Amino acid sequence: MASAEKVDTHAFITALKKIVSSAYFFWAVLALPSVPLFLTLAEESQRHRGAAAAHEIVEGSGVLATFLLLIALSLSPLETIFPKSRVVGWLLQRRRYIGIAAFSYSIVHLVFYFVDLGSLRDVLAEFATPGILTGWVALFIFVPMAITSNTVMTRVMGWRRWKMLQRGVYVAAVLVLAHWLIVDTEPAPLIFFGALALLECYRLWKNLTKRKPRETLANPVSA
Ligand code: HEM
Repeated sequence: MASAEKVDTHAFITALKKIVSSAYFFWAVLALPSVPLFLTLAEESQRHRGAAAAHEIVEGSGVLATFLLLIALSLSPLETIFPKSRVVGWLLQRRRYIGIAAFSYSIVHLVFYFVDLGSLRDVLAEFATPGILTGWVALFIFVPMAITSNTVMTRVMGWRRWKMLQRGVYVAAVLVLAHWLIVDTEPAPLIFFGALALLECYRLWKNLTKRKPRETLANPVSA
């Protein structure tokens, strides 16, 4: 009886592990924050306040896209600090999905921005203003990154070229910071991006001070 229970528990844990490690589960987790956004849309539309809802979705999706971007960027420095962390390792294996989710929320952001403004003339009128232009340029940088974010494209482009393209994410991150600071005029983004900058500085310092094996062999006394 006890051994049957043990087998059941084992089978349950194995099934649970399989679900949690599946890509579908991770996509569901990434899609979850969109639920309150669309509930707001449904609620406000019923009250004939569609424009207010569109504006709320612009804000919510912008913040979500930015947080996912920050999470994706912080994983490599976090790996340097916690090389044995299973959570960081698990997330690193799924970083591509986090990046695509950030891009998808940026598209939602853009779509509801159009809905909010209501006319192409208004969109074009503010296109060149610093707060909006920074958003557009960041999004244009994300497009080729999102398109090439799969194994086939990594092979087609070659790892070096693919990696160089992906490094554009740092330029995009600076633009997103500028975009958020200009359109919202709140200091909060400085805290989030500041934390990422600190993590990146630590990673850089760690990489620079890492002794190369060849140097260590050449000068065993200093090892
Ligand atoms: C296509 C280009 C983009 C346009 C036209 C655009 C437009 C806007 C506008 C009009 C707002 C102000 C909303 C308000 O009045 O509060 C805003 C806010 C914001 N956007 Fe964008 N955006 C773009 C791209 C992006 C991208 C790529 C990201 C991040 C990945 C982003 C992140 C944010 C954030 C974090 C906010 C602040 C939300 C808040 O007020 O709390 N935007 N954007």
